[in-house]
Amino acid sequence: MSQKTKTQENIATAVFGSAEMKQSAPAESIPKHKTAPEIAYQMVKDETFPQTQPRLNLATFVTTYMDDYATRLMNEAVSINYIDETEYPRVAVMCGRCINMVANLWHSPEKSEWKTGAVGIGSSEACMLGGVAAWLRWRDKRKAAGKPCDKPNLVMSSAYQVVWEKFCQLWQIEMRTVPITHKNPTLNIEEAIKMCDENTICVVPIAGVTWTGMNDDIEGLNDALEVYNKKTGYDIPIHVDAASGGFILPFLNPEKRWDFRLKWVLSISTSGHKYGLVYPGLGWVVWRDKSVLPNEMSFSVNYLGANITQVGLNFSRPAAQILAQYYNFIRLGFEGYKEIHENSMAIARYCHDAIGQMHCFENYSKKLDNPLFIWCLKPEYEKSAKWTLFDLQDRLMQSGWMVPAYTMPKDIEDMVVMRVVVRQGMSRDMADMLIGDIINAVAELEKLEYPTPSRIACQKQQKHKGRVYTH
Ligand SMILES: Cc1ncc(COP(=O)(O)O)c(C=O)c1O
Repeated sequence: MSQKTKTQENIATAVFGSAEMKQSAPAESIPKHKTAPEIAYQMVKDETFPQTQPRLNLATFVTTYMDDYATRLMNEAVSINYIDETEYPRVAVMCGRCINMVANLWHSPEKSEWKTGAVGIGSSEACMLGGVAAWLRWRDKRKAAGKPCDKPNLVMSSAYQVVWEKFCQLWQIEMRTVPITHKNPTLNIEEAIKMCDENTICVVPIAGVTWTGMNDDIEGLNDALEVYNKKTGYDIPIHVDAASGGFILPFLNPEKRWDFRLKWVLSISTSGHKYGLVYPGLGWVVWRDKSVLPNEMSFSVNYLGANITQVGLNFSRPAAQILAQYYNFIRLGFEGYKEIHENSMAIARYCHDAIGQMHCFENYSKKLDNPLFIWCLKPEYEKSAKWTLFDLQDRLMQSGWMVPAYTMPKDIEDMVVMRVVVRQGMSRDMADMLIGDIINAVAELEKLEYPTPSRIACQKQQKHKGRVYTH
């Protein structure tokens, strides 16, 4: 910006009368000159202005609504670094209490005052910590037995979330995936056991599969591993990736045994920022007890005048999410969480039924394990349709909704589905608006005279690869 333009402005210049509003936003270098705070604020704010309203974002699992008190607490704690435990010791205590509460929710058998667990920035960090612990336990045992440790592997379904690919790449662990199929949309236990051997560090079932919303059969896996481990003399454990299910199952299906009630479950991870109902930036991992957390993972650091012990990949991290989780536990109690999740489930079922009744759609599963579901075009409808679910996604975006369409994972990637994740903040009234918008969008798409580019691309793919869809 030239000096001349700058000096023409003064304190009375309106934000939208300023020179900055006529120029592109800085993109490469830090601007040379200062900018008035109200103008800088407006520029940053406007950058996000055309985005989807978070509560209309039905693609995400992550919290998009918290009450005013939670929001206030988080704003007030925004300057606190969690790692400064010496300076903010009560935050560390609060974090320990949250770990205790999560561990007890999952029936931890540990009797000590502080349960063994760690806070993460999300499930990804929590999964990594669970995976690293399994790898180190396996390695230490192999070393002690004088056996080679160079070929560790991990077994899970092909419907894994990308964090497991990252984990296996970063730690050089062979990833063995059991394909999910239309017949077996969750982890096929028999096939998973066939993939196990002496180098398997753990099997990872998922509670709340990202692609489908379904739960793997964790109790069935535990029983199969019990037989397998007895037969082979191995002791292959389970790490449960309960990113979504970890805060759903205890409230909506408390009788279901998927957690530390099962012998081979040694660790569980979840996202506090999903159905733990906290804004993004929070994950939890809990181990069965101290004995299964390798010593190498606890780092003692002499920091700012005290010795602190830390389990985690990151050092500095925000404290606000921990305050918010603790607030939620107090504010909602078990009863409150149950009510909110029951409502989400009821609204998800309502949408699931409404979509399942439409002439063009077919739900992927009949029942819902979690408050989310996927659906596809009916095969017979699809044959003559001039549009795809990607077109429907675009249409819905015009009414503000983000409802993603995507292809399924490897082996069934020919199938295109659409997913809705219902969370706190989605009311029945909003569900009615969504269903109305879907009905209207389909009616418009059915008026098309010619196939959409997305439909043409699909047909081409079909010809080339014998596939129905790719995107
Ligand atoms: C099954 C599963 N695991 C792990 C993750 C990663 O979670 P986060 O985004 O909290 O890191 C997700 C995210 O959707 C997930 O669905």
